[in-house]
Amino acid sequence: MSQGRILKVAGPLVVAEGMPEARMYDVVYVSDFRLIGEIIEIKGDRASIQVYEETGGLGPGDPVYSTGEPLSVELGPGLLSSIYDGIQRPLDKVRAQAGDWITRGINIPGLDHERLWDFVPTAKPGSSVSGGSMLGTVQETDLIEHRVMVPPGIAGELLDMVPAGRYTIDSPVAKIRTASGSVADVRMCQKWPVRKARPVGEKMAPDEPMVTGQRIIDAFFPVGKGGTACVPGPFGSGKTVIQHQLAKWADAEIVVYVGCGERGNEMTDVLQEFPELQDPRSGKPLILKTVLVANTSNMPVAAREASVYTGVTIAEYYRDMGYSVALMADSTSRWAEAMREMSGRLEEMPGEEGYPAYLGTRIAEFYERAGKVRCQGGDRTGALTIVGAVSPAGGDMSDPVVQATLRVVKVFWSLQARLAYMRHFPAIGWLESYSLYVDNLGEHYARELGGDWAGMRDRSIALLQDEANLLEIARLVGAESLSAEDQLTLYTARSLREDFLHQIAFHEVDTYCSPSKQKAMLGLIMQTHEAMRAALAAGVPPRSLFEIMSRESVARARYAPEGAPEYFEKALADIRAEIAALSAAASVEGAR
Ligand SMILES: Nc1ncnc2c1ncn2[C@@H]1O[C@H](COP(=O)(O)OP(=O)(O)OP(=O)(O)O)[C@@H](O)[C@H]1O
Ligand SMILES: [Mg+2]
Repeated sequence: MSQGRILKVAGPLVVAEGMPEARMYDVVYVSDFRLIGEIIEIKGDRASIQVYEETGGLGPGDPVYSTGEPLSVELGPGLLSSIYDGIQRPLDKVRAQAGDWITRGINIPGLDHERLWDFVPTAKPGSSVSGGSMLGTVQETDLIEHRVMVPPGIAGELLDMVPAGRYTIDSPVAKIRTASGSVADVRMCQKWPVRKARPVGEKMAPDEPMVTGQRIIDAFFPVGKGGTACVPGPFGSGKTVIQHQLAKWADAEIVVYVGCGERGNEMTDVLQEFPELQDPRSGKPLILKTVLVANTSNMPVAAREASVYTGVTIAEYYRDMGYSVALMADSTSRWAEAMREMSGRLEEMPGEEGYPAYLGTRIAEFYERAGKVRCQGGDRTGALTIVGAVSPAGGDMSDPVVQATLRVVKVFWSLQARLAYMRHFPAIGWLESYSLYVDNLGEHYARELGGDWAGMRDRSIALLQDEANLLEIARLVGAESLSAEDQLTLYTARSLREDFLHQIAFHEVDTYCSPSKQKAMLGLIMQTHEAMRAALAAGVPPRSLFEIMSRESVARARYAPEGAPEYFEKALADIRAEIAALSAAASVEGAR
């Protein structure tokens, strides 16, 4: 281990000299506290180091030890159910060793190296293998089978496999003779530098939606499995609730949740709530398929910068096994602010609003790690979906982080302060938001929801757009001047907003709505619309139509149980009967 000396300390930034062999992004231990840091700038034999822990008490002359290795995570069985800090230290073990949040100089590995895992070999000696080839399996949790793979970069002939049995992640399970003739031991644990994307076979276009059970998302602005989405919004508009809802309900096999620089109590919610939540599909605890990376606002700023990379690398590892993985990051603004702080201390030339000039590149590189992919080393496809919350100051959408994010992500869920203020949740603006996946997912919808789904969706979005225009006209010339048809548009648009788009995250039933129930709900609203339109044409006065008793069943549809089409059949029959009675009365009236 080569050794330098501290020249100066400026908050989380330490400048050291006497480090001629230093390389960018190498990890160093700073002072005899052995605080963990990473080299982020080199000038001659001077290295600037971002330190992931409080630097109080450090001073010039203190030693700096270089490890010669980049910031990496350990990948192997034992990741699931873990709760890590920004540099993959297990929080429970840190706490056991050091008390609450006092983490200085504690170097605990991300995985348990003593634990024995039941390894079942699946590969045959004599076969040729390469990075990503599956060697065996481990039942990591009740929900997830861990696929032990050859690490990227190793290829050759599989010489030997251990028999099925219990092994630690450090004991070799396979021997591979590489092209150069040397023999490599492969273990259940591999390391990967967090700032580098793990290699994939081939990227494919997302063609399957990630179902979230949130109506406005699935029906109007869906994200594909392997896609990217962002949720920008002002303070208190519901970013965190949406991310939590996705973590709970999205149909991803693995969830990685990165709490980045958010308030400690929000993260505490996650930490307390998650272990108790059940996976709706298996009925098992959700935590068995989840990895949490928690880096709250009271933790050092530099570790925040690392936490999104730690999270995405773990997510890629499970994608490589062929799983569909969802990564939620709340909030990427705090990550960008950490970047800004380090850049300022390095005295780099600032770009917009003091963010470094490379802000856009970093954000793009992060989201580019998403994708639906053909995995390396086998006939598997995996997907990594990334959803980032963005919290611009004052909800200002011209904020550089928002703008840089919108340039790369394909789905925009635009949270509106106005809606949150009216307590219309999720406060996703239906006029402002978009999804560029709708066309790619068309075939899937036609297959799963039938050919009429797309048309119904388009008509309801059009109604909401018409509503915005009509409200404007009504504001200028008064609502009385609107035609009966326009009044119906306002009536149905309101029903769409209140009975379909509005969804209560904290209601036992309403919290999740399956795609088929979404279709039934939207169908009920749109068929009511059609029946009313016919009745208007038959001369029924709009007012009596809009006050039918059976409209209550539309408002209550959200509480109907899953898999109960009879609710919707009866509701529609009642509505049609009531409208028919009004039409009959109108025609008697007309005949007089
Ligand atoms: N889908 C929802 N259903 C019911 N209530 C909601 C929903 N979404 C948000 N809320 C309400 O809005 C509040 C604020 O939401 P949240 O904490 O997610 O906002 P945020 O955008 O993350 O705020 P911050 O900027 O402070 O991080 C919640 O505590 C909850 O009361
Ligand atoms: Mg929040």
